[in-house]
Amino acid sequence: MDINGIKGRSLIEPDDLSLGELDALFLLAEKIEKDKRFLGESCRGLLLATLFFEPSTRTRLSFEAAMLRLGGNFLGFADPGSSSAFKGESLADTIRMAASYADIIVLRSPKEGAALLAKNFSPVPVINAGDGGHHHPTQTLTDLLTIKRLLGKIENITIGFCGDLKFGRTVHSLAKVLTRYKNINMIFISPKELVLPDYIKNILVKNNIEFTEKESLEEEIPCLDVLYMTRVQRERFFNEDDYIRLKDIYVLNTERLQAGKEKLIILHPLPRVNEISVEIDNDPRAAYFKQAKYGMYIRMALLSSILGVAKC
Ligand code: CP
Repeated sequence: MDINGIKGRSLIEPDDLSLGELDALFLLAEKIEKDKRFLGESCRGLLLATLFFEPSTRTRLSFEAAMLRLGGNFLGFADPGSSSAFKGESLADTIRMAASYADIIVLRSPKEGAALLAKNFSPVPVINAGDGGHHHPTQTLTDLLTIKRLLGKIENITIGFCGDLKFGRTVHSLAKVLTRYKNINMIFISPKELVLPDYIKNILVKNNIEFTEKESLEEEIPCLDVLYMTRVQRERFFNEDDYIRLKDIYVLNTERLQAGKEKLIILHPLPRVNEISVEIDNDPRAAYFKQAKYGMYIRMALLSSILGVAKC
């Protein structure tokens, strides 16, 4: 396990990191969790650019918090309307500019493939903070770290993904990376209109992963170790009527959760809309707020590793 090899690299898809590198990042994140000053002021004098062309609370704030906690600083925008993209500047030119001011770039875009394009134009590392309905690799690092911390392992588990599996980029990234872990059983629970895209299913088939597609959350809950809830992604629908018809199709409440295992963990990348009733928040199985906090630790580990200042 070595984090030195991560120095100077971009992160566009979760598969850009080897299993050994993932383990090294989890170990570092766990050390940071125990002692937030573990890496001290290691990023002093370094700048992170956060370029967000889509709304975000957790990803942007946790990256900015991570950089500040490492002694570095950040610049950027959360509203593309306040950047020169509004005047027609291309993504390539925006990236060239940000790279001339900052040492590392975090990019969120509504367009699939935007992070890869940015990487191709950037002389500094680029981290994909979500590209349309495609991938969200740092959410995947967050999800894996949460599973590891709360279940003590990332193998021999049954995970149920529930909700909008068509547009949910966090589901695509996590399912893809889980193909590399041992004995993972995946159950995809969605209405027919929101099933997992074929290109992800093809990856599962190619890797001989056992998976099933179901429509009923109630029927699947009893066998799950991890329940990964997702919201129906209004911003990616072409038709508002379809969104309204599907948005409340799964609502996890106390009654439905009764059949869940005692050691089940409930994850959600957040934001939540209606799909997890607030009455669940106090259930010991609800792990989504802890999950968001692990997101900051893993991003501290990632930033310090890419910038070459991490220690083991
Ligand atoms: N999980 C996640 O990407 O949340 P935000 O959209 O708030 O960044």
